[in-house]
Amino acid sequence: MQLNIALLGGDGIGPEVLAQAVKCLKAIEETFNHQFTFTEAHVGAVAIAKTGKPLPEETIEICKASDAILFGAIGSLEYDNNPNAAIRPEQALFQLRKELGLFANIRPVKVFPDLVENSLLPKKVISGTDFVIYRELSSGIYFGEKSTSEDGTVASDLCKYSEGEISRIAHKAFKAAKKRKNKLTLVDKANVLETSRLWRKVVTEISKSYPEVELECLFVDNAVVKMTMNPSKFDVILTENMFGDIISSLGSVIIGSIGLLPSASIGNENAMFAPIHGSYPQAKGKNIANPVATIFSTVLLLQHFGLHEEARSVASAVNLSLRKGIFTTDILGGSKYGTDYVGDFIAGNIVDADENANINDENIGLGRSTII
Ligand code: IPM
Ligand code: MN
Repeated sequence: MQLNIALLGGDGIGPEVLAQAVKCLKAIEETFNHQFTFTEAHVGAVAIAKTGKPLPEETIEICKASDAILFGAIGSLEYDNNPNAAIRPEQALFQLRKELGLFANIRPVKVFPDLVENSLLPKKVISGTDFVIYRELSSGIYFGEKSTSEDGTVASDLCKYSEGEISRIAHKAFKAAKKRKNKLTLVDKANVLETSRLWRKVVTEISKSYPEVELECLFVDNAVVKMTMNPSKFDVILTENMFGDIISSLGSVIIGSIGLLPSASIGNENAMFAPIHGSYPQAKGKNIANPVATIFSTVLLLQHFGLHEEARSVASAVNLSLRKGIFTTDILGGSKYGTDYVGDFIAGNIVDADENANINDENIGLGRSTII
């Protein structure tokens, strides 16, 4: 398959973790005989410094012309410490989400069997956790009208949703539930918010077309308690933009590290793949950031294009690294391995999935195992 992939490394650890994911895609290209073309483009604080804009026109053009975007992270201390800055790195993300119509943000939260001991939560709680969050990404409070009074003492952010915006992601979530455990949990705050009441109405109506899927509705405050105490009870979680942002961060804590969770942002024309973590500026250039979330984002990218064997091959290589303890220090009990080393190890172990059973473990410590 031929794929044009836009590479948007961005800020902080973004470029470092992205580089590891690219190594993996190159290994896939070679092993499975595909043709991937990579085009780098600036985004975030780095782009502001270079062009004055967080998302320069050239970057949007490259993204629009691509089949997929692989994204690192954006945000820098300079802007985090100055929330009033008029031009901000995050604006690039919002513009990308809006202009490319990326309305469905999919965040799978699955415990890695080799890391059940590494979560802050007990093994008996997290065992079997395997759910996926469908977060609405291009509307809601993130995009509603914003205002601050002239004297700066009153501010407001409008949360607005239309039926169409709810139903297009709801259908995707129900379809996903049909392929999984037939359970969908709508997370909202319908006891308080008008928008949540609309979500409930639309989603309940749509659920009639998916009779095999059990629909459960939970208020967000109750949902976070249940997610923490009994995460394995969830299958597909459907929610609006801001609740999705918050509960997906909780998801990363459940499975052991924010450095592990990938995401796919899907629209009708474009698709973007990125780790859910931020730019972690304190770690920039130190070779300590966990590349797994970004590498796992390539698994979602490959699945998106129907390259399932290839996706399995990357996932197996990641699992092998975790099984062998080749991981970065953010994981409890983490070892000394650096970003580069973990990336090399995983890329070096990408093989045709059928042959994975025959990996010779002896050379694994060298970061490259041999096929026998
Ligand atoms: C995410 C991030 C972004 C969001 C930030 C960087 C604006 O936290 O994708 O989860 O809130 O959507
Ligand atoms: Mn977030």
